[in-house]
Amino acid sequence: MSCHPKNYTNLVSDYRDKSSSAAKIFRRGENMCGIVGYIGSKNATDILLEGLGKLEYRGYDSAGIAVIKDNSIQVEKRKGRLAVLKESLEDNHVEGNVGIGHTRWATHGEPSDVNSHPHLNNEHTVAVVHNGIIENYLSLRQELTEKGYTFKSETDTEVLPFLIDYYYEGDLVEAVKKTISRLEGAYALGIIHKHHPDMLIAVRKDSPLVIGVGEGENFIASDIPAILNYTRQVYLIDNNEMAVLTNDSVEIMKTDGTKVDKEIYNVEWDVEAAEKGGYAHFMLKEIHEQPKAVKDTLSPRVDKDGMVNIKDLKLDEDYIKRINKVYMVACGTAYHAGLIGKAFIEKYANIPVVADIASEFRYANPFIDENTLMIVVSQSGETADTLAALRLAKEKGAKVLAVTNVVGSSIARESDYVFYTWAGPEIAVASTKAYTTQIIGLALISLDMALKRGTIDEIKVKEIVGQIWKLSDKIEMILNREEEIKDMANEIHTSEDIFYIGRGLDYYLALEGSLKLKEISYIHSEAMAAGELKHGTLALIDKKTPVIAIATQDSLYDKMLSNIKEVKARGAYVIGVAKETNKEIEEIVDKVIYIPEVMDELATPIAVVPLQMLAYYVALNRGCDIDKPRNLAKSVTVE
Ligand code: AGP
Repeated sequence: MSCHPKNYTNLVSDYRDKSSSAAKIFRRGENMCGIVGYIGSKNATDILLEGLGKLEYRGYDSAGIAVIKDNSIQVEKRKGRLAVLKESLEDNHVEGNVGIGHTRWATHGEPSDVNSHPHLNNEHTVAVVHNGIIENYLSLRQELTEKGYTFKSETDTEVLPFLIDYYYEGDLVEAVKKTISRLEGAYALGIIHKHHPDMLIAVRKDSPLVIGVGEGENFIASDIPAILNYTRQVYLIDNNEMAVLTNDSVEIMKTDGTKVDKEIYNVEWDVEAAEKGGYAHFMLKEIHEQPKAVKDTLSPRVDKDGMVNIKDLKLDEDYIKRINKVYMVACGTAYHAGLIGKAFIEKYANIPVVADIASEFRYANPFIDENTLMIVVSQSGETADTLAALRLAKEKGAKVLAVTNVVGSSIARESDYVFYTWAGPEIAVASTKAYTTQIIGLALISLDMALKRGTIDEIKVKEIVGQIWKLSDKIEMILNREEEIKDMANEIHTSEDIFYIGRGLDYYLALEGSLKLKEISYIHSEAMAAGELKHGTLALIDKKTPVIAIATQDSLYDKMLSNIKEVKARGAYVIGVAKETNKEIEEIVDKVIYIPEVMDELATPIAVVPLQMLAYYVALNRGCDIDKPRNLAKSVTVE
């Protein structure tokens, strides 16, 4: 089944009907959305639409804007992609100098015009955009209905403009503070009021939000790329903080009114870093950015003498010496990177590591005490399950080290130690450069821990760091063989089932390769520990069944050759991945992708690249929406 647009649309609506009924049962709120706001002398509509275009990866079921003009709020909101809203605005022109915008990923209430944000009160004096979940919205809805308010939508968000209206007695900031005091749950808000055309209010709790500072204009956004064309100066407001923006000022305070002094953060990213940079998709651009991302992540952490230096984490030496267990917890691709980190820490720092997916960990009964270190890995730093796992570990006395790509993200803010991957913004839903830079981070952390615990000497550390330095060039060599991988994708893109097999680190890599293929090509795929095949899955291997056999580990190479023969004997079509020094493999596979010679532990960040490209070109052949796959969102901030 291809992803041909006509099939694709039907498939998506079927999925959404089921999920929206499921969402009604779980009563979840709006939680994977993008918000943007502007106040200044320019036409707000243009800036809001541009910002929403940069946030569509956060969700794209519907979009809307609200702008104040001549003391009235003009609102336009439409189900469907941003293009639908833009088309609608051509007929229903909206303009003004202060406004808010929203792009939605429906989790509660099906995608529709009426469920789209912004939401307004009945008199249209207040407009609100929201990303998050109002957990107690049902009781608030009941209370407000009894007070005479009439709800139009099915969303949790609609209680907000009504509450603000209810508490408004001329002071908008006070009305917002009273409203916030009634809320339970997660929310990033943008608020405007027709009687306050000189004011834009933002509030943050457990959902991402940044404030952009311009010349005679100011901005709010869920994510930095949305405002990067206008300013590089941002405030990263914290949980339970709010900001009052005018044309010329930004006042930040706690939601109880206490004033807060904040440092301005200067964004280093180029605008193009948030654009596609000439590639057909963000995903391909981000695959090609990996040599730079790896180098950018590594270089600030290695001294001139080649010694690892992550002193900025302030990892407490006595604590590191004392810990006797590590939990490595994450979701999806970040979890797959965590598995590689597990192997590094066990090998070099000599500490047992329990790796688990966050959605399981948080409901299990983990053995955690003050001698446990929790490492969480998260590109966005906003994944709800990972954040919940972090909080559980802290409650039980563990310290938490986060490896994340987003400065000031919720996970970063709530961790004791933070290692930032400098991969730059990762826009494609399918994670690529975040994975490779997470592995670099975890490798450096394991070496630092090993040095502190005396389980490795400086000579060995410098030797490994030297090998890590060479990874960028080795990844570049793979990228230069894109055509070869594209041809392989042509061979398998019509398959209905594709298997990935490997042993040890190659099994962990098989998990990642399989996920990449599934999430962007919609082909069913499974990753198997190669030694496990004979215990059942081998029954599925038939003539021409594609099998991606990953054999980069010298220590397990011969075993893998046997497993490849097992599947070949059943007629499989095998694409092998191996080091260029191990040539025997080409005698038994149909195609082979060689990677440059490298130590076993560092093969993964290189060998993942052909798997990322293979998935990309298979999905391209199938006409899929690569950067925004159906049913998925970039930042899964809902359980
Ligand atoms: C990866 O390609 C997927 N988009 C998904 O598995 C992702 O890795 C997962 O949701 C975790 O996200 P995070 O790294 O932002 O926490």
